[in-house]
Amino acid sequence: MFTARVDPPWDLEAWRVAARAAWGAQVPPEAIEWNGDAQGGLLAGQDVAALPRRRDGLRVSSDFLSVAAAVLCHRDPQRFALLYRLLWRMEMEGRDLLAHATDPDVRRAQVLAKAVGRDTHKMKAFVRFREVPGEDEAFVAWFEPEHQILDRIAPFFARRFAGMRWAILTPYRSVAWDGTGLAFGPGGTRADAPADDAREALWKTYYANIFNPARLNPTMMRSEMPQKYWKHLPEAQLLPDLIQQAGVRVREMAERAPEAPRRRIPDAAPQPTLRAEDSLEVVRDAAAACRRCELWQPATRTVFGEGPVDAKVVLIGEQPGDEEDLSGRPFVGPAGRLLDQILAELGIDRQALYLTNAVKHFRFEQRGKRRLHRNPSSSQVAACRPWLMEELSRIDPAVVVCLGATAAQAVMGGGLKLMASRGRWHRLESGACVLPTVHPAWVLRQRDPDALAQARRALVDDLRLLQMWMARQGEALDVAAGLSRS
Ligand code: URA
Repeated sequence: MFTARVDPPWDLEAWRVAARAAWGAQVPPEAIEWNGDAQGGLLAGQDVAALPRRRDGLRVSSDFLSVAAAVLCHRDPQRFALLYRLLWRMEMEGRDLLAHATDPDVRRAQVLAKAVGRDTHKMKAFVRFREVPGEDEAFVAWFEPEHQILDRIAPFFARRFAGMRWAILTPYRSVAWDGTGLAFGPGGTRADAPADDAREALWKTYYANIFNPARLNPTMMRSEMPQKYWKHLPEAQLLPDLIQQAGVRVREMAERAPEAPRRRIPDAAPQPTLRAEDSLEVVRDAAAACRRCELWQPATRTVFGEGPVDAKVVLIGEQPGDEEDLSGRPFVGPAGRLLDQILAELGIDRQALYLTNAVKHFRFEQRGKRRLHRNPSSSQVAACRPWLMEELSRIDPAVVVCLGATAAQAVMGGGLKLMASRGRWHRLESGACVLPTVHPAWVLRQRDPDALAQARRALVDDLRLLQMWMARQGEALDVAAGLSRS
């Protein structure tokens, strides 16, 4: 009997070194005890690393390596032996062994890799960072993964929360990110992570608001969010109450169910040719009968911009949503409420702004009684652009804020990459300054509290440039040259 060691046991490179040594010495799978796991070390023999090499030229496919990388994170003590057996058999029986899905070794490897994939998916969804009291922007999360996946998943969190300082503690290992690199260390306990933080309140309020009792399916919820993860999730504390109240809330919703919206699209009328001296009101009336693309058909009405005609600042969104379509006013639904909240935090008066959209009709997909938002196509954005230009030419703002990629592309051109351009001033040919930023609806689409907080912060940071501009307007500042976030 020979022994082979893999340290740390989830590490692909460590397993490859041991497997290469064993194969090089032509030690068959059944003659190796891996990491002392299988036989309690009683039969431990010479380490394969010390054996003389009898064969070279071992080659394995990238498919095998990617399965092996996942399998090694599983806690099954037999995983090293299984992988070596597969390696050995691929040399003996042919490289296409992995394609034989009914082979017991192949099937077992796939089962283990799948379990690790599931665990990884759950960890991505259910890690919750908490702010470390007394430290500036430092966060710690406690998580108990089923398998040894921390090293495998850490680069995901580093990419996702690149701008934060954070650590994740698990019972077997920890990892910390300082903004530049990952450092791994020993495991910890739940008590090592902060118990609670202020952002949890934001997340719980948000969760309670987006929880839709009409779509409650407790069985599906438990399979998506298994109960063993609930201890990591602040929102789980709300679930028993939300589930209990769901029946009453659904009945209330049914009683309040709105009538089918009354269509407000006027009969087809010849589109007048607008003249430069026509007022914004004339443009608004003409847009009400717009048929420049097919979106007028299912929509309730054209949602034109609103605000003072002499506004210095125009905010442009993508298109009206469900509530905007029903009410006829821009930014009155969930995204509008978030925008209002942020404007209020920054001391910006919404009434002083002109708010409009790149596309003036709601594009949606009907799913039962619900109308689900769909992004407008580029031809719909192009068809609607003349209305936006008519609005901008009447208002002649000093500053245009584009919320999201659709607005930014409608104003600044199709090639624009929002994430690369946001949070900086740009200059239009008209002389107006443009500030592209993220859309509040995108912020609300973030499905975990940390991503939500980060996305919201991005929007607040960008709109702070607008706040600065508004505060210093009187100084006739050249925004494009003079203002930056610093
Ligand atoms: N999203 C937008 O882009 N505009 C609105 O008016 C509402 C939601």
